[in-house]
Amino acid sequence: MKIVNSIEELRTGLAQEKGVGRSVGFVPTMGALHDGHLSLVKQGVEENDVCVVSIFVNPTQFNDRNDLATYPRTLDKDCAMLEAAGCDYLFAPSEAEMYPVPDTRRFDFGTLSQVMEGAYRPGHFNGVAQIVSKLFDAVKPDRAYFGEKDFQQIAVVRAMAKQLDLPVQIIACPILREEDGLAMSSRNVRLTPGQRQKAPLIARTLKESTNFVPGKSVREVMEYVVHTINNEQVMRVEYFEIVDGHTLEAIENWTDTTYPVGCIVVYCGEVRLIDNIKY
Ligand code: PAJ
Repeated sequence: MKIVNSIEELRTGLAQEKGVGRSVGFVPTMGALHDGHLSLVKQGVEENDVCVVSIFVNPTQFNDRNDLATYPRTLDKDCAMLEAAGCDYLFAPSEAEMYPVPDTRRFDFGTLSQVMEGAYRPGHFNGVAQIVSKLFDAVKPDRAYFGEKDFQQIAVVRAMAKQLDLPVQIIACPILREEDGLAMSSRNVRLTPGQRQKAPLIARTLKESTNFVPGKSVREVMEYVVHTINNEQVMRVEYFEIVDGHTLEAIENWTDTTYPVGCIVVYCGEVRLIDNIKY
């Protein structure tokens, strides 16, 4: 695996690969890798001749300074995991490399970036669009892989690729979970042992709630999920919305869409956990 820190070096290396007709798959990450990330990398390795992974903790997408400061950084371990997964290029740029001047671009993806994460983390998706567009420009991948754990992020990235007319195929990959159901996340290491034990309640409640459909109304299912999780002392639901998986608009009746998805964020102590389920 080649480790490169500069865009120029990455472009030179990839130009040679593309020159001999090799396809390029790309997995953007912020590091602190776990099996969820690696499942994306494995798919990227399988489906392309060359697989590029980036590790960059992007400051412009953090609206909470403490979250940025405490974001786990484990580069040596990440390198070993990527090497073992068959990654060809690790792109690990500095902040100055990605933002030589401040990025003042303002994207507008309408509802997609205004609801849920967009409402609770103002500016977050603008930062995601800034960095992902810069990374796409550096890598120019044929395919890029994103996890469905961040369901809304995929919709935003697809909209961005369309708006900028980028010739990249965006591929959505399923959520990888711990054995007890908790969605794998770099933030899980910040849970205390007690919180870690309680955290699977989120996935368990979401899964249970699918049994109530279509018997119970959308509102009843929402209330069940929110009450069940909030009943646990260390947990606080920030939002739970059942939306059309394409437009991300909230639905009122199950018949409003053929693709209902429940998206949730829960604070477990100080740690913000995200998950979702298809109904
Ligand atoms: P990060 O949180 O590091 O996630 C990188 C990718 O891994 C994302 O596409 C995310 O959805 C996926 N992922 C995380 N946990 C997963 C799981 N349990 N199962 C499947 N996929 C999972 O998302 C970001 O970084 C950033 O916003 C980024 C796109 C890199 C832009 O900075």
